[in-house]
Amino acid sequence: MKYAFATGASRGVGKEVAKELASKDYFVFIAGRDLGALEQVKLEISINGGNAEIVALDLLSLESIKTVPNLIKEKTDHLDILANIAGMYHDDEKHFFGIPFEQYPDDAIIKNINAILVGHILLTKYLVQFMDKDSSIVNMSGSFDEGETGVISDFITKHGIEIFTKQLPIELKDKGIRVNALRPGFVYTENVKKFFPDVEPTEALEPMSVAKKFVEIALDNRLNGQIIEMKK
Ligand SMILES: NC(=O)c1ccc[n+]([C@@H]2O[C@H](COP(=O)([O-])OP(=O)(O)OC[C@H]3O[C@@H](n4cnc5c(N)ncnc54)[C@H](OP(=O)(O)O)[C@@H]3O)[C@@H](O)[C@H]2O)c1
Repeated sequence: MKYAFATGASRGVGKEVAKELASKDYFVFIAGRDLGALEQVKLEISINGGNAEIVALDLLSLESIKTVPNLIKEKTDHLDILANIAGMYHDDEKHFFGIPFEQYPDDAIIKNINAILVGHILLTKYLVQFMDKDSSIVNMSGSFDEGETGVISDFITKHGIEIFTKQLPIELKDKGIRVNALRPGFVYTENVKKFFPDVEPTEALEPMSVAKKFVEIALDNRLNGQIIEMKK
């Protein structure tokens, strides 16, 4: 059995990546805080003949991250793919584009950088023990539109994720684990529809096509330390 672990699997692109991995016969650990949404993802995967296990994970909490290895050990001692996808868009209720820096919510800065950047670094640190030269890590970045305001925490997080992607293969060279990232443009997810009702589906990437590209990168053993850009 092949095993994959996906953060951000409760919705959006992460949910599509989890479904794509399950369709390729991976047993998928689907991680996040919204257990109701994860139950639904697990159901959709099992209806299509796949296998998934829910992992309650808050990337903001080191305590929560440290529970993950024992949960994995109940099923396997090997992970083939680690998909670090969770992100913050920018809040559950609103996006922060255009908000002046002094008015940017403190909580959003703390959560984005600590959960999405630091949390993924720590999670990876605790999961590398399950990985070897046949394993692959893919991190989710995002495009950086010059001249935007209200994106400081997101840009810092995504630039950090890209630096992590380039440095990690060096840190892990003895293990030979491949590490790459996908940097997509605007994706037509539920949040994008909610926050930008004027955006036409044709103006953004399809979540499923982004998920397919993400899995393609995970499986391409020619890639290591690469940031792959995906535009509409
Ligand atoms: N949508 C776009 O236009 C776009 C463009 C470029 C890049 N991206 C990137 O692609 C990824 C997915 O984006 P999306 O729009 O599909 O995301 P989304 O719908 O906003 O979903 C975000 C995911 O992140 C998880 N998450 C957030 N905070 C977390 C925390 N503290 N602990 C654990 N999980 C947490 C959420 O899970 P729970 O709520 O269950 O915890 C959810 O599954 C993100 O990294 C995003 O930055 C998106």
